[in-house]
Amino acid sequence: MDFSLSEEHLMIQQAAKDFAETELLPGVIERDEAQEFPAEQVKKMGELGFMGMMVNEKYGGSGMDTLSYVLVMEELSKIDASASVVVSVNNSLVCWGLETYGTEAQKEKYLSRLTTGEAIGAFCLSEPEAGSDATSQKTTALENGDHYILNGTKNWITNGNSAEVYLVIAQTHIDKGHKGINAFIVEKGMDGFEIGPKENKLGIRGSDTHSLIFNDVKVPKENRIGEDGFGFKFAMKTLAGGRIGIAAQALGIAAGAYELAKKYSKERKAFGTEISNHQAIAFKLADMHTKIEAARHLVYKSAWDKDNGNNYDLSGAMAKLYASEVAMETAVEAVQVHGGNGFVKDYHVERLMRDAKITQIYEGTSEIQKIVISRSVLRD
Ligand code: CAA
Repeated sequence: MDFSLSEEHLMIQQAAKDFAETELLPGVIERDEAQEFPAEQVKKMGELGFMGMMVNEKYGGSGMDTLSYVLVMEELSKIDASASVVVSVNNSLVCWGLETYGTEAQKEKYLSRLTTGEAIGAFCLSEPEAGSDATSQKTTALENGDHYILNGTKNWITNGNSAEVYLVIAQTHIDKGHKGINAFIVEKGMDGFEIGPKENKLGIRGSDTHSLIFNDVKVPKENRIGEDGFGFKFAMKTLAGGRIGIAAQALGIAAGAYELAKKYSKERKAFGTEISNHQAIAFKLADMHTKIEAARHLVYKSAWDKDNGNNYDLSGAMAKLYASEVAMETAVEAVQVHGGNGFVKDYHVERLMRDAKITQIYEGTSEIQKIVISRSVLRD
C-alpha cells in the first residue's frame, strides 16, 4: 500500500496552494463581510483548469483524476470556502453529471464553457419542502409537444445568480414518484425563469445562494438528461460524487483552522511562555492533527475508489460525515486557542468556524450520510 502522492499530484496541490495564498487570501474577509461573489477569482480558476478538472480535454477539461480535484478543493478551502464551493458544484455536480449522462450534443454545447470558467453551473434539487426528502419533488415539468413546461420553486441554490447553466430536477409523471422524475438543462434568461432573493447566510457568504422560480418555462426536449425517468438516479449518482468534493472542502477548512491555531500558539505568550508550551493547548493541537489525518485518509480513499471504478457511495458518505464533523470541531477549537482574538474577524478562524457548519448540511446532512452508510453496511 503506497500512501505517497505522485509528482503530478504534488504539483497540482502546490498550484492550488499558491493560487489560494496569492489570489484568494487578499480580500477574503471583505468578501465574506460584503457577501461578494469571487467573480474575478473564479475566472482565474477557469484559466488554471480548476473548473472542469475531471472532464476530458476534448470538452475543454483538464482530464485529471478525482484525487487531483480533492487536493485542489482542500487547498482552496483552507483559505476560502466560498470560492471552493463554486469549484465543487461546478466540477462534481454539473460537469460530472453532464459528461457522464449527457448526450454528445449537450456536452459539446455546454461543457467547453463550464470547464473554462466562461459559464458557471448550478445544481437544482432542493425545494422548500424537499431538502433531505429529495423524492418529494413539487416542481413539475409536463410534456407538451417538443418541449416540457417547467413550474415550481427551488431553494438554497448555490451559484443561484452567478450561474448560467442550471441542472434542474423536476417531476414529469406525477403519479410515478421518484421513477417519474427527470433532470433538465435550463439556461439563464429562458422566459419565465426568475432568480429569487439572495440568502443572507451564516457562512460561505461569498457564494451566492438563491431561490429560483420557474413559471411556465419552455424547456426543449433535447435538454432532458438521460432516459425518461432517470432524473432521481441522476441526482443520487451525481450527489454521491459531490459528497467527495464537500468532504475535501471540510478537510480543507479543518486543516486551515488547525494551521492558524498552531502558528498562533507558537507566537502568543501567556504565563511567561508561548501558549503551545501549555499542555491545555498542545493537547488540543494533538487532537486536531490526529482527527484531520484520519479525515484525510477517508477523503483520499473515497477519491481513490472513484478513480478505480469502485462503488463510492459508502466511502464518499463516510468521508463527508467524518470530515465535516472534524471541520466543525477543529474550527471551534481553533477559535478557543486564539482566545479573544479568535472572536474577531482579522484572525480568520471565526470565518472558518462559520463556514464549517454548512459542510454538515449541504449535499446531504450528517443524518442523510448516516442513512446512506447504515443502509450500505446493513445490506452486507
Ligand atoms: N445511486 C443510484 N441510485 C440510487 C442511489 C445512488 N447513490 N441512491 C438511491 N438510489 C435509487 C434507489 O436505488 C431507488 O431506486 P429503485 O426504486 O429503482 O430501487 C431510488 O433511488 C430511491 O431510493 P431510496 O428508496 O433509497 O430513496 P429515499 O427516499 O429513501 O431517499 C436518500 C434516499 C439517500 C435519503 C436521498 O433522498 C438523499 O440523498 N437525500 C438527500 C438529498 C441531498 O443530498 N440534497 C442536497 C441538495 S444538493 C446541494 O446541496 C448542492 C449544493 O448546493 C452545494
